[in-house]
Amino acid sequence: MSAAVVNPVGWAVRFYEAPIGKKAVMAITGFMLVGYVLAHMLGNLQIYSSNPNQINIYAAFLHNPANAGLLWGARTVLLLAVILHITAAVQLFFQNRAARPIAYVKKDDVPASYAARTMVWSGPIVAAFVIYHVLHLTVGAVMPLAPELGLNQPNVRANVIAGFQNYGVSAFYIFAMILLCMHLYHGIWSMCQSLGVSHPRYTRWLKKASAVLAILIAIGNCSIPIAVMTGLLTIN
Ligand code: HEM
Repeated sequence: MSAAVVNPVGWAVRFYEAPIGKKAVMAITGFMLVGYVLAHMLGNLQIYSSNPNQINIYAAFLHNPANAGLLWGARTVLLLAVILHITAAVQLFFQNRAARPIAYVKKDDVPASYAARTMVWSGPIVAAFVIYHVLHLTVGAVMPLAPELGLNQPNVRANVIAGFQNYGVSAFYIFAMILLCMHLYHGIWSMCQSLGVSHPRYTRWLKKASAVLAILIAIGNCSIPIAVMTGLLTIN
């Protein structure tokens, strides 16, 4: 009796070619990206610390050459996750369109929320926001970054506050955060389904939990430009 030999690479390729394979890639990379967005928001909330320098101390820790391996490792993993997430999303979009070339005549028949129907454009706008954001606060291409406070210690507090004192910049951030919230709401919920963490009995609760997490992230992020515009957060 001969055992069937399974080629793992061939199996992975065939799995990815099916819609479920792409959904699995989107779910796993989406999970990593949600984790980053949540951790990043918690890090940013240090701007409210009673010690005005707290967020700069945190940034100095991240920029410390001793942590360079960790930082570049995380950046590489994150970038790969973004690339895989977008590639799978685009391929899935075209695969679905090819499978159903004629759209539903009456869209109301499709039981999809507003957030679900807007995934196709909330995703690209959030991606464009991330590029703008990195150019703004990491590269300093949108407006010049404040001088460093010491060796490898960026003045993140001054950079963030000076940026949000511009109402146009703040408005764009708030708009992007609202779209991110919608994208996360549907994304987290779909991720649970793709990873099999769903059961008709828990659907309502999973949807609520996804909404709560997405709204908390939006509130935490939007609070910063709002606090700057209302004068609650000032550089000195
Ligand atoms: C009001 C909300 C936000 C604030 C105040 C903020 C603040 C910052 C700051 C200060 C940096 C530079 C950090 C440093 O050089 O040490 C940064 C980098 C970054 N942020 Fe944000 N951020 C916000 C929202 C977001 C969101 C929603 C995303 C993703 C969807 C995001 C993704 C990134 C990325 C990818 C970087 C580059 C990280 C790196 O250089 O390794 N940020 N952010």
